[in-house]
Amino acid sequence: MNIDLHTQIGNTTLKTPTMLASGILGISLDVFSRLYDEGAGALVTKSLSVEPWDGYLNPTVVPLKNHGWLNAVGLSNPGAEYFANMLSDNVTIPIIPSLVGSVSSDFTFMIDKFKNCNITAYELNLSCPHVAKVGLDVGDDPDLVSEIIKTIKQHTSIPVFAKIGLGTRNYLDTVKQTCDAGVDAITAINTIRSMVIDIDTQKPILSNKFGGLSGPPIKPIAIRCVYEITKRFNIPVIGCGGVTMWDDAIEFILAGASAVQIGSALAGPDWTGVFSSVNEGISQYMEQKGHGAVKEMVGLGH
Ligand SMILES: Cc1cc2nc3c(=O)[nH]c(=O)nc-3n(C[C@H](O)[C@H](O)[C@H](O)COP(=O)(O)O)c2cc1C
Repeated sequence: MNIDLHTQIGNTTLKTPTMLASGILGISLDVFSRLYDEGAGALVTKSLSVEPWDGYLNPTVVPLKNHGWLNAVGLSNPGAEYFANMLSDNVTIPIIPSLVGSVSSDFTFMIDKFKNCNITAYELNLSCPHVAKVGLDVGDDPDLVSEIIKTIKQHTSIPVFAKIGLGTRNYLDTVKQTCDAGVDAITAINTIRSMVIDIDTQKPILSNKFGGLSGPPIKPIAIRCVYEITKRFNIPVIGCGGVTMWDDAIEFILAGASAVQIGSALAGPDWTGVFSSVNEGISQYMEQKGHGAVKEMVGLGH
């Protein structure tokens, strides 16, 4: 049987349904290239801002006994311009800059910096749960979300994905707002605002106190969100949250995802093998179940 791992996210075609999630290994062209050769269908950069940001003091990442991670890196990044210069030679790798900002002019400023780069799409970070005035603070403001997306869509013909998370309002209202404003796809979900306390010092471990929970503990929540979004809206969804092995990816696809992003699983020692083993597992499952193309499985769990 011929197995075709290509997938379609709106008008964007990827060679496989597995993507690098934002913030994980996402600041070097060499690493992008290596992961692309390993089988990643697209690579999302670390979230980039108008100016370089330092982020928070250590500790910024804590491994948890439930196999999850808590992080408050604070969106440290070298700034959009530095990054765009680095990407200007890229012709082959499908790169998706993740952009973070507070007002629409932040986003259009950054998009202008990428105008000479080969960009597959932009992903708007409307969901980081631990940095003030960006991320979830924007995602939780319906009028702002709408205004930002409409402005961006008028400014660029490159596809725009909105990465949503769980904030203080019903996230489905945010999804509706982004769909109405014209986004091309939704990435669901980001990390979930959480805290860990060290029982010896009797204080929160992260320097920022609050951080975002990622990894296997959030997968059932992310699956629920992908299912709910695709049930209610006619928009392509990229699933994200707790994908470690091939069967996690299949679960997301059955819930309605056209592709999945992988983040925390790349923190392990075998990070270079993750994409090839997940893609190989998806392929074998398709063979076994008689599915020739990924799109045949999208939403089958409904
Ligand atoms: C250390 C770390 C840094 C992250 N940085 C970003 C970021 O800059 N922008 C963003 O949209 N998401 C960021 N994320 C969230 C991931 O992209 C992803 O949504 C989340 O970790 C859930 O996926 P996972 O369970 O596969 O890790 C970060 C996650 C981690 C663990």
